[in-house]
Amino acid sequence: MHVVHTIADLRQALAGSQHPALVPTMGNLHEGHIALVQRAKPLGDILVTSIFVNRLQFLPHEDFDSYPRTLQDDCAKLEAAGCDIVFAPKESDLYPEPQTFKVTPDPALGDLLEGHFRPGFFTGVCTVVMKLFSAALLGRPRSTAVFGQKDYQQLMVIRHMVQQFALPIDIVSVATARADDGLALSSRNRYLSPEQREQATALSKALQALAQASVQATQAGGAWASQVPALEAQALATLRAQGWQPDYLTLRRRSDLQAPNDQDGPGTLVALGAARLGTTRLIDNLEL
Ligand code: PAF
Repeated sequence: MHVVHTIADLRQALAGSQHPALVPTMGNLHEGHIALVQRAKPLGDILVTSIFVNRLQFLPHEDFDSYPRTLQDDCAKLEAAGCDIVFAPKESDLYPEPQTFKVTPDPALGDLLEGHFRPGFFTGVCTVVMKLFSAALLGRPRSTAVFGQKDYQQLMVIRHMVQQFALPIDIVSVATARADDGLALSSRNRYLSPEQREQATALSKALQALAQASVQATQAGGAWASQVPALEAQALATLRAQGWQPDYLTLRRRSDLQAPNDQDGPGTLVALGAARLGTTRLIDNLEL
């Protein structure tokens, strides 16, 4: 496995590749990331994992400085998983000058939910992902990039970007990896105290309860969608009562993340949530 730090070295390492596969990450890899790498492995003739904590997608008060950086451990895990190239640029390698050109998603999708609570987040994500695509994938007739479904809205935004810019890249998604108790794996889980770690399953349970109540409402038929705000309020109250500070717990249409209407039903819906436990902000989602 090669570890390269500059775009020039990455391009040189990829020179003979016809259809590379890329797994973009911010490092501090857990089993969820390794599942992405394993999914990506057979999809390309060479597999690149990028590790870069992207300042552009953090708000000033967020955890950019404290975000765990564990390159050596990450490389050991990636080598064991069969990764061919690790692209681990320094900030000055990826952004040698201030990145004033940015890629901004359609506000109809990018300003909702995560984009509402973390303004500029998706512009930061799209800008770095476009740059990673340019460094690792573009110039080939076809290539593949793999992303996790835990970042549900991010995955949708990236698919939309690829479609609108006609990028010759297949976007492949992988189901959320979970601990035995249901907690979605995340690099931010390591911020949780042992006591908070026990409480952390409440987020996926609240989404399950919201999903279940929504399925029951759809089965009753009629004007079921008018009940959704009350179901969401109930889910938010349950989480708040357990000491969480939720940003949102909501039922949306999978296709556009808008509120559902009476024609929607199981198979077209997703429950999404983001909430803080102490200072740690966790997100999760559940399709129904
Ligand atoms: O999902 C992530 O880890 C990041 O948002 C990504 C896609 C690597 C861009 O920095």
